[in-house]
Amino acid sequence: MRLILLGAPGSGKGTQAERLAEAKGLVHISSGDLFRKAEKEGTELGKLAKSYMEKGLLVPDEVTIKMILERISEIDQGFMLDGFPRTLEQAQALDKALNKDGIDKAIYIDVSREELLRRLSGRWICKQCQAPYHMVSSPPKIAGRCDVCGGELYQRADDTRETAQKRLEVYFEQTAPLIDYYKESGRLLEVEGERSIEEVKENILKLLS
Ligand code: AP5
Ligand code: MG
Repeated sequence: MRLILLGAPGSGKGTQAERLAEAKGLVHISSGDLFRKAEKEGTELGKLAKSYMEKGLLVPDEVTIKMILERISEIDQGFMLDGFPRTLEQAQALDKALNKDGIDKAIYIDVSREELLRRLSGRWICKQCQAPYHMVSSPPKIAGRCDVCGGELYQRADDTRETAQKRLEVYFEQTAPLIDYYKESGRLLEVEGERSIEEVKENILKLLS
């Protein structure tokens, strides 16, 4: 199974990808996590990505496509992409690399703009494994510590109100058109994202079965 999670910043892609990958035995591949890891390691890719991420802009297609296709080539099982593709060029490159059938399904998580901003401003992330939490809707069991690996939690630099607004603008302009791209090829599944984390997960699993 080759799946994509599609949705605006804060829609719950990372939250659901982690849970769905575990339930379905898929590898979770997040472009944002890979960029943040590269940034932490201080690589050239990380420095380049940081210069775009801190402004809320997309990292250039060429670099992003190369990074993701390399990651996909390393695994020989199903996967769940989170945050990629984000432009038409990325979507086409992915389909081409996966031969004629391309990906199986794109799952679109629909959330209103107001709720997206509320979620981003209350989000905390694990420094080690990047699992996302929310101060109000999904707090960790121990304050400041990741439930999964015990790592320290922090707030992403691009989750300030100003940068989050910019990311939303970029999403509606460059990424939202992908909803039609997958709808037209009969591969789009849509889920209402303003329900509890568990309900959203169960609804996606139902759609996939
Ligand atoms: P990336 O890391 O992908 O960020 P994003 O798309 O902006 O998405 P987020 O991670 O902010 O949101 P999410 O949907 O994962 O939500 P989450 O599950 O955390 O990208 C960052 C940057 O990297 C980009 O701006 C760009 O610069 C670059 N980049 C990445 N991919 C790229 C690409 N393909 N091309 C070019 N550049 C790229 O949830 C959010 C919060 O809500 C959490 O606090 C969570 O606990 C909470 N929450 C989740 N679900 C629920 C629910 N059902 N109810 C209540 N709260 C919930
Ligand atoms: Mg994410």
